[in-house]
Amino acid sequence: MPDLFSLPPAPLARIRELRAELARHNRLYYTQAAPEISDAEYDRLFRQLEELEQQHPECYDPNSPTLRVGGAPLDGFQQIHHAVPMLSIDDVFELSADTLAKTGAARPELELVEFYQRLRKNLGRDAITVTVEPKIDGVAVSLLYRNGSLAYAATRGDGRTGDDVTHNVRTIRSIPLTLAAASVAAASVPPPSAATLDSDSLLPSFPSLLEVRGEIFMPNAAFAAMNAERDDAGLPTFANPRNAAAGTLKQLDPKIVAQRPLAFLAHGLGAYDGPPLATEHEFHALLDQLHIPRNQPVLTARSLAEMLDAVAAINRDRHAFDYGTDGAVIKVLDRAEREQLGYTSRAPRWAAAYKFLPEQQQTTLNAITIQVGRTGVLTPVAELTPVLISGSTVARATLHNQDEIDRKRIHIGATVLVEKAGEIIPAIVKVTQPVPGAPTFSLFDHVGGKCPSCGGPICQEAGFVAWRCSNFQCPAQAVTRITHFASRKALDLEGLGDAVAEALVRLGHCATPLDLFSLTQSTLATLNTGSAAEPRRFGEKNAARILAALHAARSKPLHRWLYAMGIRQLGESAAKELARLHHNLTELADSPILAELLRDTRADAKKKNAFLTKHAVSGDVGPAVAEAISAFFQSAAGQHVLLRLAQLGIDPASDNYLPIPAAAGLTDKPLAGKTFVITGTLSIERDAMKELIESHGGKVSGAVSAKTSYLLCGEGGGSKRDKAEQLKVPIIDEAALHALLA
Ligand code: IVH
Repeated sequence: MPDLFSLPPAPLARIRELRAELARHNRLYYTQAAPEISDAEYDRLFRQLEELEQQHPECYDPNSPTLRVGGAPLDGFQQIHHAVPMLSIDDVFELSADTLAKTGAARPELELVEFYQRLRKNLGRDAITVTVEPKIDGVAVSLLYRNGSLAYAATRGDGRTGDDVTHNVRTIRSIPLTLAAASVAAASVPPPSAATLDSDSLLPSFPSLLEVRGEIFMPNAAFAAMNAERDDAGLPTFANPRNAAAGTLKQLDPKIVAQRPLAFLAHGLGAYDGPPLATEHEFHALLDQLHIPRNQPVLTARSLAEMLDAVAAINRDRHAFDYGTDGAVIKVLDRAEREQLGYTSRAPRWAAAYKFLPEQQQTTLNAITIQVGRTGVLTPVAELTPVLISGSTVARATLHNQDEIDRKRIHIGATVLVEKAGEIIPAIVKVTQPVPGAPTFSLFDHVGGKCPSCGGPICQEAGFVAWRCSNFQCPAQAVTRITHFASRKALDLEGLGDAVAEALVRLGHCATPLDLFSLTQSTLATLNTGSAAEPRRFGEKNAARILAALHAARSKPLHRWLYAMGIRQLGESAAKELARLHHNLTELADSPILAELLRDTRADAKKKNAFLTKHAVSGDVGPAVAEAISAFFQSAAGQHVLLRLAQLGIDPASDNYLPIPAAAGLTDKPLAGKTFVITGTLSIERDAMKELIESHGGKVSGAVSAKTSYLLCGEGGGSKRDKAEQLKVPIIDEAALHALLA
């Protein structure tokens, strides 16, 4: 901390005044939605402060309003040891009608009632006052303020240690970087003016240490707008607001984070040194005084009946909230009572998270349409009479495949029960009212055995339930094949998203991805990426950008090209593995190694294992992949691809050629021979972690099996973790991985 008090007063005082003033306007704008000055006036004050800070570097303060979006990208995240562990909450579930029938439980709220009864028993009283509030579906963070200044922000991590995400959290405008002084006793007094920030006028009640726990999330509306914008720009979209928030927080570049609409709401207290807080209400009053945004509504319930009412009210109102929520958190109000109740090793006994059943509605299934996906899979989609579920209108739901349709006896005209699984993706639970005598829907009959997009033949491959169009030139696949070809993990043709791919196919410029290489600047520049009614010209700059990306793609490594081809069964890991075993595409297309693998596999399992050991091939390249690759390059489509590539003068080369790892000394590396599976949220991007492991000789595979050496588990991690436990595969965290590397 610079010693501000020994500086000459004029500029220093002005800097302090400006910082406090800007912080106040920031707050008025972002948390109170009641700005007092214009944007231009704000900018003027901002620039004034910037200038003064430049002239007086000795006044540096990382929490200055000018530094919200500052700093260079980081290399990685520092770890922060939580002052007080970040515990989780025990879940209690609303029981479904099926469970009630099976178990004979009296009511859906049984587990919640049991929670309240445990409170009664442990406190030896009948009426215990609790608070009830929505559970925010976000990313848990801890904000630590020392003497009213944000010292750091950290993610939950494993509960004891988390990632230092201060640089990212600073960009969230509703989070104060410095706290206005508070008077807990006089809760109704308006917030003190910024000028009282002088340390000598601080009220005695100001907490010297305050660790606020809460959730960072992306508001639903902002999420939808951001995704629409990304889609327009041809960028990948996020699956849901939670993923978007988690992904954004893990960005190393705060400038990117600053452009994403993140928000924060407080719901708990960690380390604390300040005026005593007897109840949750007093804690909330303190947060309000300090202008720290907090989760609302918080209902107070003084009895079991009131608690059940409050929970029902939250369930009723939650769809109007600006964040996703699938439950309510119930906490004992009185902090002394909380201490009396204590903690288990992972959660407090004074709190519970009540998980609501997904909301269900009945509606009519009017029709079934068939979508043709990237790999030609025909997916049946139910067209429904629109119904409102969990706050949004549902008019369509995937029916997955024929098996699913058969199992649920889905037919057109039936009344069906629809729910939003995980509050996001609509699904049909079952038929509640069949049409008498109506046959179960048959996908094959419905489309007359032909692809609805191109009229080509459809087939059902051995071992797969899906029907698929087998016409390589199918236009429905062209768009998805082109966008896949252009995607980041494939050939990374930035700017070539759905809209551009669609226009290229629609206007007849491209039927397959390789047609992209024949595009000219003028074709691209004049491309209409909008509609006939609302044309949108792609433009010279964008066109040049794509041509440059296409030029760069010519020399991209083999594994990316393999992945880009969208061959069935061939994921990114398998593509890398194949590239390691071959010099280039020409060699791979006629691969002696794959031929050997297929021969050995067919001969006997022992030989196959000897082969896999010799080449240290991971589970990603097994006989199924070898078959798929061989089949592809032998098919007319594959031959066509090879021919076109030859005409274009492209023969992608491997950048990781190393067919016999022992000979290349790779076995000396610390992770040689070890196969990892990654799950949960890590401190760095998945891809970066994968690269780290691979660069130390290890392999990364997608699924846990008995052959997995370690499951690297970050925050969260559900089914993979269960599988690893079941198979007794060691589960390690990032710290343990670094120990292995050392
Ligand atoms: S109170 C001891 N209140 O849910 C933990 N947590 O599943 C007390 N969460 O780790 C936490 N909304 O990150 C609380 N209104 C809310 C919440 C909430 C979301 C998160 C929190 C917690 C997790 C447990």
